[in-house]
Amino acid sequence: MKDKLLEKFYEVFGREGEEPGVYFAPGRVNLIGEHTDYNGGHVFPCALTIGTYGVARKRNDSKLRFYSLNFEDKGVIESSIIDLKPEKQADWTNYPKGIIWAFNEKNYTIPYGFDLLLYGNIPNGSGLSSSASVEVLTGFILRDFYKENSIFDNISNEELAIIGQFSENKFNGVNCGIMDQFAIAMGKKDNAIFLDTATLKFEYAPVKLEGMKLVIACSNKKRGLADSKYNERRSECEDALKELQAKKPDLNSLGELTEEEFEELKSFISDPVKAKRAKHAVYENQRTVKAVAALKENDIIEFGRLMNQSHESLSKDYEVTGIELDTLVEEAWKIDGVIGSRMTGAGFGGCTVSIVKDEAVDTFIKNVGEAYEKKIGYAADFYVVEIGDGPKKIIL
Ligand code: GLA
Repeated sequence: MKDKLLEKFYEVFGREGEEPGVYFAPGRVNLIGEHTDYNGGHVFPCALTIGTYGVARKRNDSKLRFYSLNFEDKGVIESSIIDLKPEKQADWTNYPKGIIWAFNEKNYTIPYGFDLLLYGNIPNGSGLSSSASVEVLTGFILRDFYKENSIFDNISNEELAIIGQFSENKFNGVNCGIMDQFAIAMGKKDNAIFLDTATLKFEYAPVKLEGMKLVIACSNKKRGLADSKYNERRSECEDALKELQAKKPDLNSLGELTEEEFEELKSFISDPVKAKRAKHAVYENQRTVKAVAALKENDIIEFGRLMNQSHESLSKDYEVTGIELDTLVEEAWKIDGVIGSRMTGAGFGGCTVSIVKDEAVDTFIKNVGEAYEKKIGYAADFYVVEIGDGPKKIIL
């Protein structure tokens, strides 16, 4: 893989200049705790062994040259480190450009341009965070380029996550929370990350799936309006919180409420739709805390039950599933040996995550696949995934 990528890099960008480095950043899947990260709640994601590979070489001018093996038809996309702004025609390169911009904003000034070739084995737009993977990868590369400077060398992986989210919010206009970038930057093999998004305190929790697999089903639905719908959900929650704060001024976020406290206060949310959104945020956060406790006690059945409840709440109260994700999950629930199944990520398309007993994996892929294609009219894709580490430099 590494040699092939280097070969391609030289073919696209030529051999002149410094020795390029080869890097990797994972994708992520969230096991439970959806749409809680911008509501001051908990999440429980993990990094995957699939992700984005990058070959990068520092230049001695201000030019940026990008090439992706996933979008070869777009060819080399060029820009400059001077006057960075998001541009439609810059396409996917707005993600790495956003990171350079964010480094500059945080006073980690980037003096030179670079050549970057990417190859991702995460399905694009699948909801496994291919964009956050590119963001963290770019930050990791920039830190490595300038590591002789102690200011850069002292940037932690956690800060790379924060810079990634900042660039996505301010440069690329998606008001996302911290979950994706954090899960990717802080990933640890065979562990999920129990993160309190209000404080960024976190803990690794081993995910020991003995006799079971994590299966991702990708809906392949085109996610047209996903970003604007995502921002809409976020502002619905903010509106609901404001009304609750009028009654309870010390309340900082929906994540601070228990189910009981929410039930007592919910009548103060005037719009019933916003009340449903807030209900999801509160209950999902509590579910996440319970799910991690169950996992620690090795109660995977309870963990799966909470995953299923999470999906129902995302479908009925948060309304981010759609017929595609609902079909994948409802078909999964019919199969013996499925411990739990739910949509994962932002929703509106994207994918589901299921815990499936080893002996049921083939039936799962066959039955869910056939039923999905019959109902939706096109096929889903399935991936049996493993939990991997965070970003790394691949030593030549
Ligand atoms: C997207 C966002 C995350 C998070 C999830 C929903 O993946 O990038 O910050 O809000 O949706 O849980």
